[in-house]
Amino acid sequence: MSEDTNQQRPEDLISRINTVYGNFDREIELIPDTSGSLEDSEKHLLEVRNLRIKYLGKKSELAIQRKLIRSIDPNRRGEAGSNIQRFEQTINQRIDDKERTLKNSIEKARLERESIDVTIPGRRGRQGHLHPITLMRQRIEDIFVSLGYAVEDDRETETDFYNFDALNIPEGHPARDPQDTFYTTEGFALRSQTSTVQIHAMQRRGAPVRMIAPGRVFRRDTPDPTHNPMFFQVEGLCVDRGITMAHLKGTLQEFVHRLFGPETRTRFRPSYFPFTEPSAEVDYSCFNCGGPGCRICKWSGWIELGGSGMVHPNVLRAAGVDAEEFTGFAFGLGIDRTCARIYELDDIRLLFENDVRFLEQFR
Ligand code: FA5
Repeated sequence: MSEDTNQQRPEDLISRINTVYGNFDREIELIPDTSGSLEDSEKHLLEVRNLRIKYLGKKSELAIQRKLIRSIDPNRRGEAGSNIQRFEQTINQRIDDKERTLKNSIEKARLERESIDVTIPGRRGRQGHLHPITLMRQRIEDIFVSLGYAVEDDRETETDFYNFDALNIPEGHPARDPQDTFYTTEGFALRSQTSTVQIHAMQRRGAPVRMIAPGRVFRRDTPDPTHNPMFFQVEGLCVDRGITMAHLKGTLQEFVHRLFGPETRTRFRPSYFPFTEPSAEVDYSCFNCGGPGCRICKWSGWIELGGSGMVHPNVLRAAGVDAEEFTGFAFGLGIDRTCARIYELDDIRLLFENDVRFLEQFR
């Protein structure tokens, strides 16, 4: 009796499977066959795989119903069994179809993404070039190397001794003011001129010595069209027996000839630097107008090159060179301003704004 009440009717079983199938039908219809992106198709394929587990897996409603076949009247079990099998096959078939379609669209999307159009012109890599200051520095180096000068590279952070004392600028000397710089840790400062390398070079090489030292220098100068707090100089030093002011004048004359052309003249104006005696400011005749005056030389006919003079005996002594036996000359040129004149720039600050559109004009 109790067996009878527990007995399942095939109609009930089929009706439950019908409900399950209805749910499955709705869910699978919601998954699109194809869609725009590869990522979407991959997501949908995963959804279809989850549907297979949900509707055909071990814990699915269909599996539960299959187990219940045992409790159906043996005469009607075949009917129930074949119904379940039919649903199972249909669900399986529809999942297979959907999977196939999605796999195809994934494959297609992958191919499209990975395909290379060999007819599209290649992209040319951007070619860099040297900064105008570097180009200028190289031109200056070439000239002095061909005159027998060595190129010295030295430190940018200096002690007071090298930046001032050894250059005959003792503490409290008024010449420290225009060359005031940026101080780092106690006793150290960023060099305010490349003249510091004169001392290092003489200490390292002794005398005779002939060298130039291009490099970066720093000053507490307020930026304006001709001033930057960071700029470049080239120092020149020649120490030997019997060196005179004539050698200095001849060397700088030869330098401007090679840089601006053989018709260029030089002019030496008396000046003062604590580390040279006598001292002179050096000008060269304008490379553009040659003398009468133009926009580039600000209508004076002359352009400032830098400072120069005969190395002060105190400087030779501070660097360990016998000032009785040796004499020498030194000069210091500003690269930024020379560069600005040559390229007709109104403002040296442009050189450090790092605007590629500006810089790429000077290759
Ligand atoms: C000196 O610095 C000396 N050391 C030069 C020297 C060397 C004289 C050896 C004698 C013997 P002065 O301060 O004038 O000198 O600077 C030299 C050059 O640096 C100037 O002619 C100028 O071209 C450049 N200059 C100076 N200050 C600045 C600045 N703030 N911005 C850009 N360029 C500058």
